[in-house]
Formats: sequence, C-alpha cells, structure tokens
Amino acid sequence: MTTTSSISQTLAARVGERPADLIGQTDLLKIPSLSALTGCDIYLKCEFQNPGGSIKDRAALQLVKDAMASGELKPGMTIVEGTAGNTGIGLALVAKSYGLKMLAVMPNDQAPEKTRMISLHGAQLKAVDPVPFKDPNHFYHTAKRIAEQHDDYWWANQFENTSNARAHFLQTGPEIWQQTQGAIDVLVSVAGTGGTIAGNSTYLKQQKPDLAVWLADPDGSGIYQFLKTGEYQSSGSSMTEGIGIMRRVENFRQAKIDYAINLPDQDLVTLSRYVRDEDGIVLGSSSALNVAAALAAALYHGQGKTIVTFACDLGERSASKLYNADYLQQRGLSDQVEPIAELLQRYRQQSQRVLHVTRDYWS
Ligand SMILES: Cc1ncc(COP(=O)(O)O)c(C=O)c1O
Repeated sequence: MTTTSSISQTLAARVGERPADLIGQTDLLKIPSLSALTGCDIYLKCEFQNPGGSIKDRAALQLVKDAMASGELKPGMTIVEGTAGNTGIGLALVAKSYGLKMLAVMPNDQAPEKTRMISLHGAQLKAVDPVPFKDPNHFYHTAKRIAEQHDDYWWANQFENTSNARAHFLQTGPEIWQQTQGAIDVLVSVAGTGGTIAGNSTYLKQQKPDLAVWLADPDGSGIYQFLKTGEYQSSGSSMTEGIGIMRRVENFRQAKIDYAINLPDQDLVTLSRYVRDEDGIVLGSSSALNVAAALAAALYHGQGKTIVTFACDLGERSASKLYNADYLQQRGLSDQVEPIAELLQRYRQQSQRVLHVTRDYWS
C-alpha cells in the first residue's frame, strides 16, 4: 500500500509543438470513497487527459510513428481505420500533427459524442451498419478494403498491429511504475483490442512478476468465457463501447492475465453514480467497468493493496447512454442505484464470479 505522499509528484507540465506531443504522461488520481471502503488504495490513470480525450491517443500515436519510421506511411497519405470512435479521434489528431489525412469507418450505433469529435477534427467519417464480424460489411473489413483500393491509403489495423500494445509497453506501463514507485499490486483493465492490458501487463510484470492482472469483461463479450474454456461464447449485451472481443487478436494475445471478471451494466450505473456523488469523478462506461472490477479485486485480495485501473475516456462521451435515464430504461436498466453496502456485500459473496486464469489460453 502506498500513501499519497509516497506517490511520485515529479512529472512536470510540458510544452508541446503540436497536439500529438501532449499525448501520454497522464496523472494518477485516487478514488477516495472506494479506497476508504476497501482499505486499499484504488487509483485511476486519467487517460481522459490525453488531447483526444481517451487512452486510444497513445495507440494512435505509436501506430503512426512506427509506420512512418518504417516508410509504410508518408506525409500526404490517408490513414483509414475501423473504430468504435476513440481510436478515430486519436488518429484524426495525430494525422493533423504529421501532415496526414484521416478516414474513420465506424458502426452507426456508437455514441454521437464520438462521431461529432471526429468531424470536429476535420477527419472524414464513413458510418456503416453494425453487423457481426463475419459479415464483409463489418467496419473492420470495410476499412481494410478501402485501404486496399487506394495506393495512398494506410490501414492502421489497431487489432493486429502491435504498435498498439507497444505504446503501453513503452509509455503507460513505465508511467504507472514510476507514479506508484513500484508499489502497484494489482492492475485492472478492460480490453477492446487488448493493447492496453497487453502492453501494461507485459511491462509491469517484468518489473514485478507477482503483480496481479485483472481483465474486466462486459456482458456480450466472450473474453471471460474464452479465458475459462478456450471458446468465445457470450450472453447478453452491454452499453459499453470500444471494449469486449469475440475473436483472437494479436494485441490481446500478448496480455498476461491472472484473473478475469464479467460484470453487468447495472453495476456500472451504480458505481458511476457513486463515485460521481462521493468523489466528483464522472466516468465513461468502460471506465465504470474498470472501477467495478477494481472494487471486486480490492475485496478479493484484501486490505492494503495498491490497485491501478484506467479512466479510459471522458465521462462526457457516455452522456447519451450511461447518464441518460431514457436510454437506460430502453435497455431494461434502472437509474435507481443499489446502495453501495449491498453491492459490496454482493461482490464479497460472489467470489466464484472471479476466474483465476491458470490455463495457457493460447495453446
Ligand atoms: C472507451 C474505451 N475504453 C477502453 C478501450 C479499450 O482499449 P484497448 O483497445 O487498448 O483494449 C477502448 C478502445 O477503443 C475505448 O474506446
């Protein structure tokens, strides 16, 4: 366990020459209420501080830098990427910083907060119907096809291009290590492409092999089942965006995971309201899932642990869903929050929900 005074305060404010220079070096913020309730120090890595408002700025920057260094991507070319939105925003701002253009291919059921931001950055946007991955019109295949049809387009391919995980191995992981002065015991993360959990878990476990890494999975995603059985199966669906995978991808393959937990959207409603009211922190929906899983991890491991998870994007990006009573009602969710003591009791009693990942899930 750390005290706030032992957490590194040494990072200085920067002077950037272009927006991309300000990506990374985000702050750690303690969640006082949940830390007090659990006797652990639960920290959020404030990824909403990135200039594009999300953790995906880091992946965007590394993808572009590596492709420019290899000569695959040259100034004047167009980046094309299939995205739930945040990677599109990150790539749009990185593109401008490096003299590139950007085309984001996005399913049309994502929060309008993100499509608006892509357009505000001056990027092109192609909206497609949300269809299963096997459909050739899925946003992923559409982006790939568009890139293949144009010589001066470059497909970023955030799922398979491991520059994504490298961003976290080179930057985010070392930042967390430095900010906690090595005191981190537990890392908790959702996975969309798996870049965040892969790069951070790989770096941090190199520093501290007994670090416990937790994967937080939403309903409708098959990762939890995959880690349990080797098969991707899912039930239900989630309002979260940008997370949950139903297939093997190269970035996720590099993740070092010890525990996994699957949690329902109703808990995200409860916890987002709780930390908003108690701590003044407005979480996006994937961040609320991270916080729910961090709470479960705190109760599972017991008092005295230092736990780090991610505020993946601006809470504002979930305004039309997580914070919209009509939307919640349409999804059969209640805007009435469960008392926190009851949620804690439920989490304590449901330790069988926690999957201890012991199998080598890639063999
Ligand atoms: C809001 C949000 N949270 C989490 C993630 C997951 O990050 P990663 O792709 O590194 O697994 C994403 C990915 O797009 C996202 O948009």
